This record gives sequence, structure tokens and C-alpha cells, in this order.
Amino acid sequence: MHGAVSGKGRATLQPPRGTRDFYPDEYRFREWLFGHFHAVAASFGFEGVDAPVLEYEELFTRKAGEEITDQLFHFELHDRRYALRGEFTPSLARMVMARAGGLRLPLRWYTVAQCWRYERMTRGRRREHYQWNMDVWGEPDVTADAELIAAVFALTDRLGLAPGVVRIGLNSRALLEETLREGVLRSKPDAFPALCVVIDKLDKIGADAVVEQLTDANGPVGLAEVEAREVVDWLGTSDVDAAASGLPADSKARRDLLRLFELLEAYGVADRTGFDASIVRGLAYYTGIVFEAFDAGRKLRAICGGGRYDRLLETLGGPALPAVGFGFGDSVIEELLLDEGVRPDCPRAIDAVVFPFGESERPAAIALARRLRAGGASVELVLGQVKLKRALADADRAGARRIYLLGSDELARGEVLVRDLTSGDQHTEPLEAD
Ligand code: HAM
Repeated sequence: MHGAVSGKGRATLQPPRGTRDFYPDEYRFREWLFGHFHAVAASFGFEGVDAPVLEYEELFTRKAGEEITDQLFHFELHDRRYALRGEFTPSLARMVMARAGGLRLPLRWYTVAQCWRYERMTRGRRREHYQWNMDVWGEPDVTADAELIAAVFALTDRLGLAPGVVRIGLNSRALLEETLREGVLRSKPDAFPALCVVIDKLDKIGADAVVEQLTDANGPVGLAEVEAREVVDWLGTSDVDAAASGLPADSKARRDLLRLFELLEAYGVADRTGFDASIVRGLAYYTGIVFEAFDAGRKLRAICGGGRYDRLLETLGGPALPAVGFGFGDSVIEELLLDEGVRPDCPRAIDAVVFPFGESERPAAIALARRLRAGGASVELVLGQVKLKRALADADRAGARRIYLLGSDELARGEVLVRDLTSGDQHTEPLEAD
């Protein structure tokens, strides 16, 4: 049966597969997590931005064979093709390009954006997720990359994860590109982005399948078997010097990577990071430092991923503008918080409940609720004809700190009875504030 209505004419109660409803419990957790995203971004001096979840499809279609392009939710309307964003970076690039020339650089922009990908689902992978992005535009130096990596750890610390629980693996596509330009890609440097997209699948599909794709004569890379094996071997190199062994000592890529580790020392997070040649990232646009965060036990998929993409604006027809950033999803981190036993329950909490015993007390109850709300309190006003017992139980469930009980006797005296729901203590207060 197609669509939302089943054979009996009743709508299915499930949202589309891989998407979520956020009932109050889940919504509160989401707000808690997003609150930390916002707080870390603010503490690093980043400005928030947003863009439509819907874009013209051509913004997302690149020809490097990326998974993300095949996973677009798309449709056609009045001869235009649209797609829901699978990631925020293309929209960000569009926004920067639209104002290029008029922006004071470097930009430090962040967002928390819902992204849509028609994924095969596994733990922590969905067809819709929220992604916290922090990006710096207009700064070519690795100081920007270091600042972003520090922000990821600032976040995981704030969430209550112990320092050893999350590790960031770092690599440099520039190091690989320089190496391959001297070697197997000498005659076809343009094949580099497509090569990265293929080798990113190593973990998932294994070395033989990667070699097969790299050597496919009709594919975008077309290496000889021995060349493809050489590339796969490089992904297993254990340190920066081994990875840079084919390059001159003054290689910029090598220098940048080593300097990045030095900077991370200054941030006090170097011991939570390490060189990992197998991290190349599956998106075509990265050009320099690339990184991914994982749980130390490697039980889950990547918690976050990012890197430098200095040529994206040019490929979209804009001016040359260096950029670096990361995307950090809401799902994998929730799984990790659960595994570590630190996912908060986020119970409901309000300041007060106002309870009129009868309708004759309601105008005074409304006036009281208005006064408390104006003072900044969160106040639930009991709406119907409810018994005191029920109102007290509801107030307890709502996580209320106090209940204001307004009966005819209190009202006649111009007072209200206030009960502290934690201690059970009661006192009266005048109804009209001075
Ligand atoms: P990405 O590696 O495709 O990079 O996604 C970044 C993060 O988003 C992942 O590490 C994961 O936490 C989360 N994520 C991605 N897909 C899913 C999914 N299907 N379900 C749940 N979580 C998911 C990017 O998207 C780049 N645009 C990041 C970036 C920003 N690079 C530079 N600036």
C-alpha cells in the first residue's frame, strides 16, 4: 500500500522510515544537545547562519561518484529540480559566494541544520539528522583547522564525556595529492577527488574492491593494478614521516600537518588526536587537512567529520577562497552518551503551577500567572475544573517547584497560598505585587 493511508483508510502512525518525531522527552534532549552546540560556537566567537532545507538540485550534484549525491531526496516542480540538503556546506558556499567581496574575512559561521540522506540505516545513521557545522572562510592557515578541532573537544567535554572517550584522526589530502602527483597521478591530476571518494570506502568494502574500482578502465580514476595497490598501501602508513617519505622535506602539506599537531598541543588536546592515513573523507571537495572523530573503542560510525576545502567556491564558479569546517551529527553522539551512561534524562521542569479552586478565582489566577510570567517564570495555569489532588499530581509530573493555590478564602484576604513542592512547606503571599 502506498502513501500515508492504509487499506482501512487509517493513516500510518509512523513517520517515513529513517525519520523521527520528537515527542517532549526527545525534544528536551535535542534542545539540551543543541544548547551545547550553540554555547560552544558562541564561546569560540562564531556567528549563526541558516539556509533553506530545500535547494535547487544542481547545487548538490557533483560528478565524483560520491555517495551523498546518490542519496538525495529530490523532486521536480514546474520544470525545476529541487533537493533536500544532504549536508550544509554547499548552501554555505552559495551564501558566501552571493556576498563575496562584501564580507569581512575570515568568517566564522556555524549552524545546526537538518540534513536528509536516503541512507541504508545502521545504528546512529538515519535518513534525517541534525548536523552542527562550524566553518571558517578566508583563512588559509592551519590555525583555523586547530581552532575547529579544539571546538569539537570543547563540545564533547561539555557533554560530560571523559577525555579519553573521543579521539580525532587526522590526515592531509594535500600530502596524498602531492605524493600522487609525483607518482601515479602524474598524467591525470584531475582524477584526485574521484580517487579520494573511492579510497574513502576502504573500511566499508575492503582493499580488493577499492583496487577494483581504482583500476576500472571506464571509471573516473583508471589506474594500473600495481598503482592502485600503491595507493592502498599509503593508506596504511603509520606516521607523518612515512606518509611524506616520497616528498621533499619542505613539503607544505607535511609542514602544515606537523604545525597542526603543535597547535593542538597548545590547546591541550594533542593527546586525543593522532595521524591516521586511512582518513580521506568521502566528499570530493576536500583539499588539505581532513579529520574524523570516533569513539575510542571504534564501536560507532564517525561522530564528526571535516576538513579543508579551499577550492569549493571556485568549482561553483566563484572566487578562490580558502575554507575549513566540520559537521557533527546529533545521532551518533546520542548513542555514545548512552553507551557511556551519561545521556541526561532531561526531565520536564517548570517554575510554578497556578491553581484556581473554582471559576470565581480564575480572573485572579490569570492575573497572578501573568505577573509571574512577566517576571520570567515558567508557569502552567490549570485550565479546567480540576480537583486539588489531580492538580498536585500534575504539578509533580511537570517538575514544578511551586504551586500557587487560590481559593475563595485566600482571595477574600487578597492572598495566595504557595506550596513548595520539594519541601512541602507552605506560606501565604499577597496577591498584588507591590
Ligand atoms: P559528513 O562526514 O558527511 O560531512 O557528515 C558529518 C557528520 O554528520 C557525520 O560524522 C555524522 O556525525 C553526521 N551524519 C552524516 N550522515 C548521517 C546520517 N545519515 N545519519 C546520522 N548522522 C549523520 C559533511 O556533511 C560535511 N559537509 C561536513 C563539513 C562541514 N565539512 C566542512 N564543513
